[in-house]
Amino acid sequence: MFTKVFSFSVLGIEAFQVEIEVDFSKGLPGVIIVGLPDSSVKESKERVRAAIKNSGFRFPSKKVVINLAPADLKKEGSQFDLGIALGILAATEIIDTSSLQDKVFLGELSLDGSIKSVKGVLPALLKAKDLGFKQAIIPADNLKESSLVKDFTVLGAGHLRDVIEFLRGEKELEKPPEFLDIDLEDYELDFADVLGQELAKRAIEIAAAGGHNLLMIGPPGSGKTMLAQRIPSVLPPLTYEEALETTKIYSVAGLLTPEKPFISARPFRNPHFGISEAGLIGGGTHPRPGEISLAHNGVLFLDEFPEFRRDVIEALRQPLEDGKVTITRASFTVTYPARFMLICAMNPCRCGYYGHPKRECKCSPGELRKYRTKISGPIIDRIDIHIEVPAVEYKELLGKDNIKSTDSKSIRERVIKARERQFKRYGTPNKLNSNLSSREIKKFCKMESGAEEFLEKIADRFGFSARSLYKIIKIAKTIADLEDCEIILRGHISEAVQYRVLERSLWEEWT
Ligand SMILES: Nc1ncnc2c1ncn2[C@@H]1O[C@H](COP(=O)(O)OP(=O)(O)O)[C@@H](O)[C@H]1O
Ligand SMILES: [Mg+2]
Ligand SMILES: [Zn+2]
Repeated sequence: MFTKVFSFSVLGIEAFQVEIEVDFSKGLPGVIIVGLPDSSVKESKERVRAAIKNSGFRFPSKKVVINLAPADLKKEGSQFDLGIALGILAATEIIDTSSLQDKVFLGELSLDGSIKSVKGVLPALLKAKDLGFKQAIIPADNLKESSLVKDFTVLGAGHLRDVIEFLRGEKELEKPPEFLDIDLEDYELDFADVLGQELAKRAIEIAAAGGHNLLMIGPPGSGKTMLAQRIPSVLPPLTYEEALETTKIYSVAGLLTPEKPFISARPFRNPHFGISEAGLIGGGTHPRPGEISLAHNGVLFLDEFPEFRRDVIEALRQPLEDGKVTITRASFTVTYPARFMLICAMNPCRCGYYGHPKRECKCSPGELRKYRTKISGPIIDRIDIHIEVPAVEYKELLGKDNIKSTDSKSIRERVIKARERQFKRYGTPNKLNSNLSSREIKKFCKMESGAEEFLEKIADRFGFSARSLYKIIKIAKTIADLEDCEIILRGHISEAVQYRVLERSLWEEWT
C-alpha cells in the first residue's frame, strides 16, 4: 500500500514542499529513508517507531521504504516525523489515505508520541497557503507563530494520538489564537533617559533618517551602549511585511517561543566581540542565520569594535553592500536577508581614557597608534558617521527640570518625514541617502554654489579623499531632508563635516 503525505523543508528563509512517500517492499523488516535526508532526518526512524507504539498502535513488521521528494534537494530537520508516522499508519490502514489529502503536516515526535515544536513553521505555512493547501497540522507550541498567516486554516496538536483521532473525525484540534495586531509603539527604551549628549542624539537622528552607519568613540561609561540600545525607538515602526520577514528569519533560526512568537519591534542585536564568522554572518554545517540576519530591519551593535576579529569584520563587507548574505557550500546555497543599521562603539584608546578630562591615559604612543590602525581599512570606509561621545556629568543633570532631553518620539517623527522625502525621490523604501552611488549623488544631490565652494575649501584643508567627500555629501543630503530642503546648503555641509572625526587631520585635531 503506497501513501503520500505533504510536508515542508526550508532553504534560507523560503520553504519548499516535500512529499513523503511510504511503501512496503519485500525484504527484512526495517525502515529506510531515501531522498537526500541529512542525519537529523535519518534519526526520525527511531522516534517514529517508538511514537507509533506508544500511541497504542502496532508498527508494521515489514520493510518500510520512505522516499522524500524532490530527491535533489537536501532535507534537514525533525519536522517530517509527523508526516512519516501518518504515512506509515495510512499504509497499514489505521487511518484513511484520503484523510491526508490537501493537508500539510509538520512536527517532531517524542518517543512517547507527543509532538514537539519545530523550526521554520512560518515560512512553511506561507508557502503551503500559496500552493493552495487546505489545512496545516502543526505542533501546538507553534500555534502562536502561525497566527501571522492570514486566511489559512492551521490546527495545532500536542500528541500523535490526537492527530489520528482528528483524521478519523473523532476529535477537534486546537485553533491558533486570534491574530493580535502587532504592537508597534511598544518600545521600552527612550532617548529621554539619556541626559545631555544632545550632539550624539542629533548624529543618531541623521543616521536613522538616511540609513547611515555610525561609529561612536568615547571613554567607558559615557553612554555609548545606552545610546545604541535606543536607536530602534527612532526608526519608523515595522510594517507588517517587515515584521513577517524578520519573524521568518527567527522562525528558521528556531528562536521563536510561545512567549515571543513573533518579532514585533525592530531587533537590536549586540553580539560579543569573540563571535565567529559563522555566528555573525551565518553558516555552519546546518546553515543558520547569523547575527546580521537576526538584525534584519533593525540594528546591529558592535561594541568594542576594535576587538572584533579582523576577518570577521571583513566578512561584513558584502552583506553591508547587498542587504543580504549568500552562503555557499558544496551541496547547497542559501540566502538570508541582512539589511540593518550598523552601529559601532569604541574607546578612544586601549585603556579608554585618552583625552578624558579627569582620568589619565596609560597608553604609550605605540599602543595608541596600534589601536587606531586596527579600525582603519575597508569597514571604516563603510561607516558614514563617526562621532565623539564624551563623558558627561549626567548625575549633575539629574533632577534639574530645566534640562531639555530630546525624546524618541520627536526624533522618530522627524526621521519618518525625512524618509518619506527620500521615498518620493527614489521610489523605494529600501533606498536611502546612504545607499546612493556616485552617479546618483551627482544626479540627486544638488548644492547651492556657496555649499560647493565651501566643500572644495575644506577638502583642500583636510585632504579629504573623493570617497570621503561623497560621504559628506550624503550626510548633508540627509540633513537637508530633515529640514525639508530641496538643495544642500552651506550649513548642511559644515554640519556634515563634524561627523567625520576619524578623517586623519580631524582626528589629529580632536586628539
Ligand atoms: N547621559 C547619560 N544620562 C543618563 N545616564 C547615563 C548617561 N551616560 C551614562 N549613564 C549611565 O551610565 C551607565 C553606563 O553607560 P554605558 O552606556 O554603559 O556607557 P558606555 O557604553 O559608553 O561604556 C548607563 O547604564 C547609565 O546608567
Ligand atoms: Mg558600553
Ligand atoms: Zn589610553
